Amino acid sequence: MRVLGIETSCDETGVALYDLDRGDQRPAAGLLAHSLYTQVAMHAEYGGVVPELASRDHIRRVLPLVRKVLAEAGCAARDLHGIAYTQGPGLVGALLVGASVAAGLAFSLRVPSIGVHHLEGHLLSPLLSGDPPKFPFIALLVSGGHTQLLQVHRVGRYTLLGETLDDAAGEAFDKTAQLLGLGYPGGPALSHLAQSGDPTRYKLPRPMLASGDLSFSFSGLKTAVATLLRDRFEDSMRADLAAGVEAAIVDVLAAKAIAALEQIGIDRLVVAGGVGANRCLRAKLSEVADARGFSVHYPELQFCTDNGAMIALAGALRLQHGAPEQCGFTVYPRWDLEQVEPLG
Ligand code: KG4
Ligand code: ZN
Repeated sequence: MRVLGIETSCDETGVALYDLDRGDQRPAAGLLAHSLYTQVAMHAEYGGVVPELASRDHIRRVLPLVRKVLAEAGCAARDLHGIAYTQGPGLVGALLVGASVAAGLAFSLRVPSIGVHHLEGHLLSPLLSGDPPKFPFIALLVSGGHTQLLQVHRVGRYTLLGETLDDAAGEAFDKTAQLLGLGYPGGPALSHLAQSGDPTRYKLPRPMLASGDLSFSFSGLKTAVATLLRDRFEDSMRADLAAGVEAAIVDVLAAKAIAALEQIGIDRLVVAGGVGANRCLRAKLSEVADARGFSVHYPELQFCTDNGAMIALAGALRLQHGAPEQCGFTVYPRWDLEQVEPLG
């Protein structure tokens, strides 16, 4: 069963083809082809994503990417058994591009279209790695828009354990990076600069570290950095501040992830979403998890940030578990993961 996946929730157009039969024993083997076009250069000029430009660019890219992926996989459109697309959450205009292309293709090919929750895609993306986690597991989902800890019982069943009360971890990276003059998106640039900095020079807060629950709060970090820079700005501060911010975010994420594993009594952690690419977070999590006998699973670096492969995989698994056939389409710019249609 071959499923085409289309991701257009924000500033990346991703398309992929997933074959459930080939992925039966080893999920990674099911990914036949995937391709991505990133709009980062276009939005960088404005310091952030411009929704209308994003939608228009998805329109330009999506069909050429579909043709490219099908050609690379040596697959004709008539060989497809379903079309999956990101149904939400995300930018409404951007989501509508993927949803309408998927619905049109599905209608013309007489196959089902399958709406996928963007975060479900991120959560399942480590299944495409060489070391896929077994269910159930705890997931630390850290993207530009979300910071959540979830219990993943099986495909389609998720329990929210805790989330950020304000900014997401990726947002904290991006906003402090902007204060340090690092452009957009700030996470990778800040992390790069942090490598040459001293994380102990500035005593930055570890928000909610001792709150006793699994909630997060990152907006105070941005304020702390803004205050330090207002008092005095010297170029020599930048790398140390970058290292301090990164260490503060990573300390909180690692402590809460370990607390979730201990609280629920599960020994497998999956880290998904763009911030999962952060080297410092990976090193810290490996260190603290190893010490307690927990295993940590990551998506491949190319599947940490937004991509079509995770949507094709999640759509294929939904189809396999009997997801209901859709008529027409709708998108959900805001959508809780616990509200996805239960399967089976
Ligand atoms: O999952 P993603 O690609 O998009 C969303 O669904 O939001 O995540 C993007 C976020 C951005 O905030 C970006 O700055 C952050 O992930 N990010 C990083 C790194 N790579 C991407 N943050 C810290 N370190 C990185 N290496
Ligand atoms: Zn994402």
